[in-house]
Amino acid sequence: TDEPVAGSKRVLLAAPRGYCAGVDRAVIAVEKAIEQYGAPVYVRKQIVHNIHVVTELEKRGAIFVDEVEEVPPGSHIVFSAHGVSPAVVQGAADRGLAAIDATCPLVTKVHREAVRFSKQDYRILLIGHAGHEEVEGTMGHAPERTILIGSPEEADTVEVPDADELIWLSQTTLSVDETMETVRRLRERFPHLQDPPSDDICYATQNRQVAIKKVAPECDLVIVVGSANSSNSVRLVEVALEYGARAAYRVDYASEIRQEWLDGVATVGVTSGASVPEVLVQQVLADLSDAGYGEVEEITTAEEDLLFSLPKELRVDKSGKR
Ligand code: F3S
Repeated sequence: TDEPVAGSKRVLLAAPRGYCAGVDRAVIAVEKAIEQYGAPVYVRKQIVHNIHVVTELEKRGAIFVDEVEEVPPGSHIVFSAHGVSPAVVQGAADRGLAAIDATCPLVTKVHREAVRFSKQDYRILLIGHAGHEEVEGTMGHAPERTILIGSPEEADTVEVPDADELIWLSQTTLSVDETMETVRRLRERFPHLQDPPSDDICYATQNRQVAIKKVAPECDLVIVVGSANSSNSVRLVEVALEYGARAAYRVDYASEIRQEWLDGVATVGVTSGASVPEVLVQQVLADLSDAGYGEVEEITTAEEDLLFSLPKELRVDKSGKR
């Protein structure tokens, strides 16, 4: 059979992986809000797209809702890391809710670009996934001027009304390669298409993709820890396969790893999405170790030290002043 020879089983652990600065800040924001205002604190949508994080915060007193209309007037509401449209902010204010905005600053940056370019009468081609909360929030900042492009194929067929000034912006958590392909195809049709002032795909998304690209070619199997609705986690599975991993799967928990995935596997790559706590990765490593993959080599392609300050509503000094 093709069972690997004894002693050849190993894990290549990608770094960077896991929590980004925006997720770290958003999770702490909910914890602090509960501490400061007492439970329950309402959160619009999943604070970050990870089932474990959401479950743990629920235990502490967070209540997750889909829309502000579900929240009792006078309550505190946290907006998720993915950001919200101005209509949602207004809806919360109309209801008398005290809002705490945990939108990642790198998403807010894209919102500002959308507002600025729409005011300058640009048509914005937003590359992103229909229905994703971040896309809804960004489109909501320039609803009249934005056209969503969901894939490279859509770039070939999108109708742009007139000879407008055109700029493309994007969701922060896309595949870098696929986005560049979409832009290439758009530019073939619209040569005057302008690039965003700076990358919209965030540093964390880019760094996690670079790391898995380095690891994937050596892997018989890649395991990505992350939730099904986590865009950047799902992208990591795709990038691993494109870069030569023989197989790649996404799991929320170590317990989802199936015995047959390991058949004939010598090298397992492991990484995790930007919303995934490291404890979940450590459980995967522990289970892999039990299965004979105790040798772990970490492959580091970048160092990250970015930290964002907390949402302003939570920056209370010792005297209680804001
Ligand atoms: Fe922000 Fe990027 Fe994380 S946009 S929430 S730093 S994945």
